Amino acid sequence: MTAPYEPDDREKVVAKLPGELRQELKVRAAELGVDIKDAVTEGVRAWRADDTHRPLVDTTGGSSFATYLPTGLYGELKNDCKSRDLPFNQGLAQAIRLWLDTHPSPRRQPRATGARRIIFGNQKGGVGKTSTAAGTAQALAEAGHRTLLIDFDPQGHLTKQLGYPMFDIDDPSLAKYMLGEAKGKLRDLLVPIEEGGFGGRLFLLPACRDAFLLDAKLATSRTVRIKETALEKALEPLEREFDYIVVDCPPSLGYSMDTAIYYCRTREGEEPNTSGILIPVLAEDSSADAYDMLYDQIQDMVTDMDVEIAMLGFVVNMYDSRKGFIATSSLDSWKEIGEPPVVAVVPERKEQREAVRLKQPLLSYEPDCEQSEVMRTIARRITG
Ligand SMILES: Nc1ncnc2c1ncn2[C@@H]1O[C@H](COP(=O)(O)OP(=O)(O)O)[C@@H](O)[C@H]1O
Ligand SMILES: [Mg+2]
Repeated sequence: MTAPYEPDDREKVVAKLPGELRQELKVRAAELGVDIKDAVTEGVRAWRADDTHRPLVDTTGGSSFATYLPTGLYGELKNDCKSRDLPFNQGLAQAIRLWLDTHPSPRRQPRATGARRIIFGNQKGGVGKTSTAAGTAQALAEAGHRTLLIDFDPQGHLTKQLGYPMFDIDDPSLAKYMLGEAKGKLRDLLVPIEEGGFGGRLFLLPACRDAFLLDAKLATSRTVRIKETALEKALEPLEREFDYIVVDCPPSLGYSMDTAIYYCRTREGEEPNTSGILIPVLAEDSSADAYDMLYDQIQDMVTDMDVEIAMLGFVVNMYDSRKGFIATSSLDSWKEIGEPPVVAVVPERKEQREAVRLKQPLLSYEPDCEQSEVMRTIARRITG
């Protein structure tokens, strides 16, 4: 893009800005093919033109940022900051924030069909729903996707493993939003997971013990179709903010599971296989029986509600070929099913358990281990 001003018409401006804001500006300007100094100029002009009170931008921990503004604009900005009673750095930071907010990333346009929804389900416990849901969500966030991880198991393993407290039984919770018993915004319940390379893109909706009551309450509710639609209705306000919503399902085949299955259906206008269910399984015989029951429940939903549910694949977890014939032959049986395919085989390794013990996300605890790599493979299969 050609600069609209000769360099001589510009003056150098140096300010202290937080690294994150500078990074966001750099990435956004590149995405939109705009020169950084033109973006800042536009932001400053828009900020000056509209003196409505803006939220303060956190400028702590800033470092030097240099750009070139058209001659004179710097002085005008300084005057405005004075009259608005703001430090100059804050004024410039707000101007850049304003430009970012009014120039969204082309990658960030909300999809007409909402966020992509991936649920990890299997009524059998201990197969790796929680660990693969968490790892996949971390890999999605690492790859640049805004990702919401939902702890939908009343036991709250995911919440605790990431080191967060569960909500108390009387606190606002996902279940209360689903049942229409909560006031305020569900958004306020989300907690950011800051470690690792997730870059402010990974959030957790912690569990609450009240989810134990959810099945019974859904069963007795008089609201039409609430058993199927409750999760979707509760999460709808969040869908514009996220590219992916990943649900760690409870180990049951009750109504909670039904509402999760319905939530991951292929919506009208949505590309097939972009939302759906991933099924973590073990390479052993009892896992096959569990799958038959889950399969039947999914097919019942398909028939009863006339919907399409994409079974995205199996994740064969805790695989260890040294366990011999049982392990290898049952891995083969999962592969023979073919549809859905085996999307990944996760080896049994210590890193997963260590991360859980230390209450850290696997991909920040041991980013280069084999399990982390497999989580990235799953994320690529989902996004690809
Ligand atoms: N690939 C793996 N290697 C080693 N341990 C694992 C692996 N996957 C899961 N685990 C451990 O096995 C236990 C059960 O896994 P989890 O993800 O909680 O299963 P689920 O959610 O299906 O009950 C957890 O302690 C978890 O840390
Ligand atoms: Mg679990």
